[in-house]
Amino acid sequence: MEIIHVSAECYPYAKAGGLGDVVGALPKYQNHLGHIAKVVMPMYRTKFLYDNEWELVHQGGQQFGLNWFHYSVIKEKSNKLGFDLFLVDINGLLDREKIYGYDDDAERFTAFQIAVCDWINHWQNKPDVIHCHDHHTGLIPFMMQYCFAFENLRNVSPVFTVHNAQYQGWLDWSHYHFVPTYDGWRWGLLEWDKKINPLASAIKCSKKVTTVSSSYLEELKVSANGLEKLFEYEQGKCVGILNGIDNDVWNPSTDEFIPENFDASTVTDGKLASKKELCNRFQLDVEKPLIVFIGRLVGEKAADILPEAIRSSIFEYNGNVNFLVLGSGEPEVESELNWLKLQFPGYVNIFIGYSEPLSHLMYAGADFLLMPSRVEPCGLNQMYALRYGTVPMVRSTGGLLDTVIDFGDWQGFGIRFNNATPEDVKHAVGRAIDLFYNKKNLLFWMREFMMNIDHSWDTSAKQYIELYEEL
Ligand code: ADP
Ligand code: GLC
Repeated sequence: MEIIHVSAECYPYAKAGGLGDVVGALPKYQNHLGHIAKVVMPMYRTKFLYDNEWELVHQGGQQFGLNWFHYSVIKEKSNKLGFDLFLVDINGLLDREKIYGYDDDAERFTAFQIAVCDWINHWQNKPDVIHCHDHHTGLIPFMMQYCFAFENLRNVSPVFTVHNAQYQGWLDWSHYHFVPTYDGWRWGLLEWDKKINPLASAIKCSKKVTTVSSSYLEELKVSANGLEKLFEYEQGKCVGILNGIDNDVWNPSTDEFIPENFDASTVTDGKLASKKELCNRFQLDVEKPLIVFIGRLVGEKAADILPEAIRSSIFEYNGNVNFLVLGSGEPEVESELNWLKLQFPGYVNIFIGYSEPLSHLMYAGADFLLMPSRVEPCGLNQMYALRYGTVPMVRSTGGLLDTVIDFGDWQGFGIRFNNATPEDVKHAVGRAIDLFYNKKNLLFWMREFMMNIDHSWDTSAKQYIELYEEL
């Protein structure tokens, strides 16, 4: 079977979060299963682009509103990622440094989607499935079925994965001309709540819709940033498939970013080596439990409660705990955290920014990883933490609910709490401190147990293939 993944992110070429990790791994695992999976992305000016060799595979052009654009498609030559990676360049629109965050993002991603449809429309042998990820690719299922220019795609099955329904790519109807000419009776398939809504359109027009965990699918029926009724109505074609992790990239026994590699049998010494390096670098105390947060500093991740949760925990537990935060996001949260670091040197440190190597060192060297997320469709951090023997402390929501069992329950290995509040986090911190100082044997058992849980993509990649086969 041939599957084309279309996405705005793909690790290691371009990653802003978990979407990049998923699209950088799932196709590789699908290829291992004997299928042909490829990835098509917009071309950004990332380091990976300049460090690798590319060949031109196609050039074309399309009408875009009143304008005409030319595009070219290039392919990474070596296949070192385990799948063919294609980049679509549209001069002036896609060749930028960042992935998102430009005023004309709506134009950029719509033109990208048109170019993808136009290119595949020209293929002699069509793929079986076009698998689109998140709203940046959400107009493709509509275009494949109803735009006159892409008639050759009518027999290809569109599948769509919702990684995050908070963002929907809304477009005002005054931009109706962005979508190439289509069967006018079908306009309703583009709309939700009086706007063109790419995410809603994808849910309506795809043959199958997946969410990145089962619990998230249930939550979307009651809280989906306005799309609750749509998820309810379309539930027959929706299914939750939990993300996996790329065991080649996230492997403490081969990880190049940590000072000493380890596996479940050497976890205590291995983690200590990483913890020492972290504590040295960030002036923290290696004897105290180290709780870390890694992620976007935004409301969805409940990053706004971190300053108060950390401050009150340090007071409540007499400074017997250390915190380290890696992330960037809302400026108020960043500055509050930086202020906290000045107030509590030796107890708290903050790294504002993005660093893949530091994140690996933190998964390896931390004792606990905190995720108080308000919304967490799947969450990969907690699975990386498990793989590195770090106890996840998570709010019971979405994918966190599906992957973490509280250590108070049968075969539990994590810490769960119900509310994204400083009080609940403080209580969880208390339980972590108790585990660290008073229940060492249980903590050591948990570490080994967690490291042996298999969250690799093997199972989920098969589930996707079975889903495509139904089509
Ligand atoms: P989301 O995609 O919602 O941000 P996920 O848990 O699915 O959340 O994935 C986040 C991914 O981004 C993980 O690979 C995590 O390690 C990485 N990440 C997030 N923030 C940073 C950062 N500041 N530096 C390095 N990696 C980060
Ligand atoms: C989104 C979600 C996150 C998920 C990731 C990959 O960014 O916020 O929970 O893990 O997509 O599916």
